[in-house]
Amino acid sequence: MKTNIRMPYLILGAALSAVILTTQTSCTYNLFGKSATENNQLNTGNPVAGDDAASSTVKTSTGDTKGTTGTASGTGNSDSNGGPSDSTGKGTTDPGKSSVSTSANVQSSNQSAFIAFMRENAPSRTIKKKDGVVYVTNTDSPLVLVNKKRELESTYVPKDLVKANVGFSFSGDNPKQQLRQVAATALEKLFAGAKQDGIELKAVSGYRSYASQRSIFNNYAKKNGEEEANTFSAHPGQSEHQTGLAMDVSSASVKYDLDKSFGETKEGKWLKEHAADYGFIIRYELGKEDETGYMYEPWHIRYVGVFIAQEIKKKGETFEAYMAQF
Ligand code: DAL
Ligand code: ZN
Repeated sequence: MKTNIRMPYLILGAALSAVILTTQTSCTYNLFGKSATENNQLNTGNPVAGDDAASSTVKTSTGDTKGTTGTASGTGNSDSNGGPSDSTGKGTTDPGKSSVSTSANVQSSNQSAFIAFMRENAPSRTIKKKDGVVYVTNTDSPLVLVNKKRELESTYVPKDLVKANVGFSFSGDNPKQQLRQVAATALEKLFAGAKQDGIELKAVSGYRSYASQRSIFNNYAKKNGEEEANTFSAHPGQSEHQTGLAMDVSSASVKYDLDKSFGETKEGKWLKEHAADYGFIIRYELGKEDETGYMYEPWHIRYVGVFIAQEIKKKGETFEAYMAQF
């Protein structure tokens, strides 16, 4: 509650409805009586977008190339914690009320719903401590914040994982091709948008189970030492990849490596410029290592929904800083 809730949030209904609608099994909450996709388009002029998954190589800040592999499994399904469950956003329909006042009511309703939704997902309200470890409680929310201080339990598997229908940097089926439904749909649109602009991206690694992340981290720790591994690889339970909302993306121009140089390619630049229009943020930005806990990763995109992604991009904030406002 440190933040000032101001005008920008009057249009939050858009983002809110997009987030909520795209993450609920039964879409009972719809501010505009439209589908989630229509809401996203209505509010942002952009489609929603998606994610990443697979195995590949990762180069560290020292330039070493590391192989990453992921194994995971998932089932399909929905989200809880989609936000306020009772808000039609239709405003009052009293005869005699002007369309202006109705519109104001809609805006007010949307604003309240958005704020309520954000508060439900506030970092301070979404943790529980067990045996000295801090675990996140809004595991199925598209706004779940996972980092070195906020973990997922080892048993957590998203319920609505699906294979993203995009090109991958590897052949054959792999659990890393999965994302949560909302993120997969968004990623597919992002890849299609890139293609329209003459940019070819490939997905490298998306959902990773706790066990997969443990194996990846242990391999890096063995090869590079734990201290260095900590700068680019998450301990099991602390990886966004376990949420099913994150995808690593690369391009042929860097041989599909996950390397800082990807950020300098036309594909990396396109991703930085357009990811938010599809609901993704570049999660680990240059110069923000102290806040995120990780080195710059121009390839790691995280789904948060179009409105919030655009806000974060506009403000140049980390996801940590943005969520801390609420
Ligand atoms: N590379 C990111 C931090 C992860 O391992 O989840
Ligand atoms: Zn990643």
